[in-house]
Amino acid sequence: MQAEKKIYLRIEDLPSVGAATAQKLREIGFSTIESLATATIAELAAAGIGEKRAAEIIAAAREAIEISWVTAKQLAELKKGVGRITTGSKALDNLIGGGVETQSITEFFGEFGSGKSQLCHQLAVNVQLPPERGGLNGAALYIDTENTFRIERIAQMAKHVGLDPDEACERIIYAEAYNSDHQILLLEKADRVIKENNVRLIIIDSLTAHFRSEYVGRQSLPERQQKLNKHMHKLLRLARAFNAAAVVTNQVMARPDEFFSAMAVLPVGGHIVGHTSHTRIYLRKAAGKNVRIARLVASPYLPEGEALFRITENGIEDLEGDEGE
Ligand code: GTP
Ligand code: MG
Repeated sequence: MQAEKKIYLRIEDLPSVGAATAQKLREIGFSTIESLATATIAELAAAGIGEKRAAEIIAAAREAIEISWVTAKQLAELKKGVGRITTGSKALDNLIGGGVETQSITEFFGEFGSGKSQLCHQLAVNVQLPPERGGLNGAALYIDTENTFRIERIAQMAKHVGLDPDEACERIIYAEAYNSDHQILLLEKADRVIKENNVRLIIIDSLTAHFRSEYVGRQSLPERQQKLNKHMHKLLRLARAFNAAAVVTNQVMARPDEFFSAMAVLPVGGHIVGHTSHTRIYLRKAAGKNVRIARLVASPYLPEGEALFRITENGIEDLEGDEGE
């Protein structure tokens, strides 16, 4: 049973937010109701808002967009809203349940050259396709930490799927993160740009590179993990609030027992969504021209398994057939 809901459009429309508070909130990056719904009390305290008030604001924002307890039936409805983006390879799509899904984090990890960044490029193009072609009619937000984003590659992939290369580039909102703090900040301030551009895919390539190079040695590990953890949660909150897919990459050495897992930094049970919202795919090179093996190593609900795909001039493709469409 639900009372009739009032629709709030701007943050100053919320019951506990006046014009002055709204101004303060905007200054620290909270410009939409979604961002407030997924904020923490400590974050709002940065705008000089007392704890009690902050809690009220967050509660009001949550109520406005209904992030709260749901019945299992309502949950089923929410899940129906989950969208998927094709990777370009049917085999890989099938492995992960039909494509990269919204409202959760998908991590591609593997050695250098295993295809992580190529997949990011392809997804940034494919998210723009209409749903019947495996997209979400949306834009992509691309946080690049290693300066490996290539416009020419986007244009090439866009042409292949029949999108205008210029238009495709216009629907990829790009930022280079210079260090881990900058990377964190970019995401903290992302809610507005996500909302205004209908972003349905948030990419961080690479999630871990800056953190690894900056936090060296055993003694800095707790701080690194704490920061990464918070960063991941922010990403997850954005993915949920905007029904967007979150895709991150993580370079690892080919020693399966020593995989540095970004997932390991998520405290088990520490958050309503915890580690269950994280799909992990291990990529490695295979015999054969530009062939890659994707191994699903963790999924909230899918069995482990493997799929093969290729990286060609066209982008990410299946091994056989489908050439020239
Ligand atoms: P690191 O970021 O170094 O960890 O590697 P990565 O996993 O991101 O590798 P990436 O996605 O950059 O994959 C590199 C591979 O993709 C190369 O070895 C090439 O085989 C292929 N590739 C990259 N760019 C192109 C391109 O423009 N055309 C074609 N045909 N293949 C490409
Ligand atoms: Mg890369």
